[in-house]
Amino acid sequence: MKTNKKEFEKIAMEINKLYNENCLDTLKRMPDKFVDLVVTSPPYNMRTRIRNGEYTTREKSEHFSKKYKHFSDDLPIDEFYLFHTEVLNELLRVSKIICYNFQIVTGSKEAFFKIIGDFNKDIKDIIIWDKGHGQPAMHGQVLNSCYEMILILEDDKKAGRAIQNAKFNRGEMNNILRLGRGKSISDVHSAIYPEMLAGELIKAFSEKGNLIYDPFMGSGTTGMVAHKLDRNWIGSEITEEYCKIAEARIQSAVGLFSNFFSTETSIGTE
Ligand SMILES: C[S@@+](CC[C@H](N)C(=O)[O-])C[C@H]1O[C@@H](n2cnc3c(N)ncnc32)[C@H](O)[C@@H]1O
Repeated sequence: MKTNKKEFEKIAMEINKLYNENCLDTLKRMPDKFVDLVVTSPPYNMRTRIRNGEYTTREKSEHFSKKYKHFSDDLPIDEFYLFHTEVLNELLRVSKIICYNFQIVTGSKEAFFKIIGDFNKDIKDIIIWDKGHGQPAMHGQVLNSCYEMILILEDDKKAGRAIQNAKFNRGEMNNILRLGRGKSISDVHSAIYPEMLAGELIKAFSEKGNLIYDPFMGSGTTGMVAHKLDRNWIGSEITEEYCKIAEARIQSAVGLFSNFFSTETSIGTE
């Protein structure tokens, strides 16, 4: 179902706007099922590590993550779990479908495996984003990480794997996407996912005129791709510096449409 401009105007939220705040604050202002689709990549807790058998942060260890210059990404594991549980419950309330991209790293592993159990009814499937090759692991006995997962959630109270609000037909969408990594566009934010990944998810799970929300907008990839694909978007990003990067990136895409995403048949890349 298309959402028209008048319907948005009834609600005290601007669309095609990036909110510089904690996504939990943005979410509180959204009515139930306000958005059609969430496409997001949350922080992975990259700086929470193990030292002498205990969780610690990277600041205390010799290795420091270069992914973000302005975001600490180092919650204690229990807080990380509670934060994502709260965000996912809110996303299920406000959105028809949720694509939640995450990577198994030391600081996220326990929390995300618990989350997969807790949300087993709402998780309809998991898409594997196969990145082709992994960076060498930082320690022996640790596997090189060559893939990320995208949880596909829908709050439809129905058993089974069918995603009721999906837009693709039988046989058109695989649950493995083989795409390279995102390109770093700035030396202060390099945790970026590829435009192609956002594009495949947006095309499969929404239609033109729909509203796409990214609670962790980072450098603006979801907003930029949503715009290119004729969808409306809203984003939240807690870090002011990243909002500036995202806004500049989205602005530069306005009016500069390539026909990169014009073939709907590129859905399903396995
Ligand atoms: C993995 S990055 C997102 C990258 C994005 N997909 C892109 O392509 O640029 C996660 C982002 O979430 C932001 N963030 C962390 N906690 C947040 C919160 N509570 N609310 C909103 N944004 C948050 C971080 O500042 C970071 O930019």
